[in-house]
Amino acid sequence: MKQGKIFLKDKKTYFDYAILTFLTEEKEFLEAKPGSFFMLQANTLLKKPISVMHCHKKDGILKFMVKKIGKGTEFLYNLNPGDMLDAMGPSGNGFPIEENQKYIAIGGGSGIPPFYFLAKTVKKENLTIVYGGKTQKDIVPVFGKSQSVIITTESGEIGIKGTVIDGIKKAFTKKGFENAVILSCGPKGMVKAIKQNFPDFEHYTSLENYMACGFGVCLGCVVETKDGYKRACVDGPVFNIKDLKEF
Ligand SMILES: Cc1cc2nc3c(=O)[nH]c(=O)nc-3n(C[C@H](O)[C@H](O)[C@H](O)COP(=O)(O)OP(=O)(O)OC[C@H]3O[C@@H](n4cnc5c(N)ncnc54)[C@H](O)[C@@H]3O)c2cc1C
Ligand code: FES
Repeated sequence: MKQGKIFLKDKKTYFDYAILTFLTEEKEFLEAKPGSFFMLQANTLLKKPISVMHCHKKDGILKFMVKKIGKGTEFLYNLNPGDMLDAMGPSGNGFPIEENQKYIAIGGGSGIPPFYFLAKTVKKENLTIVYGGKTQKDIVPVFGKSQSVIITTESGEIGIKGTVIDGIKKAFTKKGFENAVILSCGPKGMVKAIKQNFPDFEHYTSLENYMACGFGVCLGCVVETKDGYKRACVDGPVFNIKDLKEF
């Protein structure tokens, strides 16, 4: 984990979401993997944890997607190309990925960025993404046609009308995905519903807990596990759901 500067090269917005493409000369920043996050400077006392959406070593590019929900994410949303930012990372353990395993990755709202990154690193035939939102405004059009993505919206504006649970049921019917490992990232209610509906599947989830320091000293992000309390920022944020007491 390192501290340094990143430079905003490009920004695209889609309703409340912004995709921010930064350039960096910090080589260590480019060691990020799917599930890694950075603590990004905001106009708040504390930096904000944001998942890496993509990391392109050769071009020195780091990409993030933020949803504006409060002061910090609104500051990030309002950045403009040319702006510099303090960043600390890459942090976190990332998703445990095995080469020949099939995965169903479920992202709700701002939980989709790690799976965009994952889609760039695993074989296409091994990954089905379920991307859920309340309305079309929550589904940022980032995936190409060649990636297997099942979209669900509660409003039914695009994709399957329903929740990610309906999308996951469909994903499990795909040939070869009957015993896929579940990966999830999103609101706790969504993660709980996945656990309740698919209790027997191996399932790793990336927790979006509040984080203050982001490097293991404040204990602001602790979670109760079978082996006692763990810090989401350094021991996670990805955990096997069967180890987490709250699920
Ligand atoms: C590892 C990790 C990766 C993340 N990746 C992303 C990402 O890629 N993109 C993204 O947009 N966000 C991501 N988040 C979430 C983001 O960091 C928080 O939403 C952020 O703290 C919001 O800051 P804010 O100042 O904008 O809002 P605040 O003023 O802190 O909060 C605004 C409102 O949202 C609620 N809220 C804030 N954070 C949380 C939370 N964690 N859980 C439940 N409710 C909350 C508050 O209670 C309040 O009502 C990630 C979080 C973690 C821990
Ligand atoms: S955020 Fe401080 S210990 Fe995790």
